Amino acid sequence: MQQSVNNSPAVVVTGVSSGIGRAIVEQLIDDGYDVFGSVRNEEDANTLAEQLGHKFRPLVFDVREREKVQQAAEFVKTKLNGNVLHGLVNNAGVAAFGPIELLDDDAFEASIDINLIGVRTVTNAFLPLLRGTDSEIPGRIINISSLSGIVNTPMNGAYCVSKHALESLADIYRRELLPAGIDVVSIRSGPIRSEIWNKARADGDAYDDAAYQKMATKARRIMARAEKDALPASAIAETVIDIFAGRKKRVAYHLSKGAWVSRFLAVLPARWADHLITQSLMS
Ligand SMILES: NC(=O)c1ccc[n+]([C@@H]2O[C@H](COP(=O)([O-])OP(=O)(O)OC[C@H]3O[C@@H](n4cnc5c(N)ncnc54)[C@H](OP(=O)(O)O)[C@@H]3O)[C@@H](O)[C@H]2O)c1
Repeated sequence: MQQSVNNSPAVVVTGVSSGIGRAIVEQLIDDGYDVFGSVRNEEDANTLAEQLGHKFRPLVFDVREREKVQQAAEFVKTKLNGNVLHGLVNNAGVAAFGPIELLDDDAFEASIDINLIGVRTVTNAFLPLLRGTDSEIPGRIINISSLSGIVNTPMNGAYCVSKHALESLADIYRRELLPAGIDVVSIRSGPIRSEIWNKARADGDAYDDAAYQKMATKARRIMARAEKDALPASAIAETVIDIFAGRKKRVAYHLSKGAWVSRFLAVLPARWADHLITQSLMS
């Protein structure tokens, strides 16, 4: 492991105000890492700094603000003092519920801006810090993707489009960074206990009177059921720890009790998958 900020390896995690990001930070700190975690406002920065102690340093940026992301990377560079950044976790993300036809344009574009373009902005800003030196091995990148990155489900279109594109982005970075020894790994999770879908569903009622009413109602019911089987955010955090420790070598990890269903749908002929998915929402 690289030694850096307080003689411990350092990791950057985006979107740590809640949910999965927060759990990853706590687990990393427990395992001895120094963590730079991004939030979007000073209030969250101060609260987390107080709660998480000296091994945590807040970074304040929205992943859509290139200049602020770059400034955060400069700040981390000074703290690393010439050492290599051990890892970057691209976790910040949003979900949006609704049919692709009627989904609010701003919500659709925000999904792409945050879940895809924001990941490229952050990755490019921190990449120079992940490159190995004569005395230190290169760092790793982990993207918190989703099973929605391998299978497309109705009412979840903006999220699926953004996470499929994120998977593509990860493959490209990994293949371009192979000569530099910087690995890029996806964690493709199913439902995890967090507020992300409650935030997204806040707009869901808008589709109750529309042509998609039956599908939207069923989709909401399926989501509510899935939440009962949701894994705790610590499941993702533990996988992150194993990847950074070099104990997990795959390019992608599928986390969910029902992950096999998505993996099966992803390899089925498209017409069969169309039929199965549509049937499950219209019956
Ligand atoms: N929960 C699941 O079932 C599930 C399943 C698979 C994958 N994931 C993925 O896991 C990641 C974390 O989601 P979560 O479930 O933990 O949800 P969450 O609790 O809502 O956390 C999302 C985090 O992203 C931050 N964020 C949102 N927009 C941002 C922006 N424009 N710039 C910077 N930060 C931003 C949020 O900050 P604010 O508090 O400031 O909004 C928050 O810290 C996402 O990428 C999501 O797609 C979640």
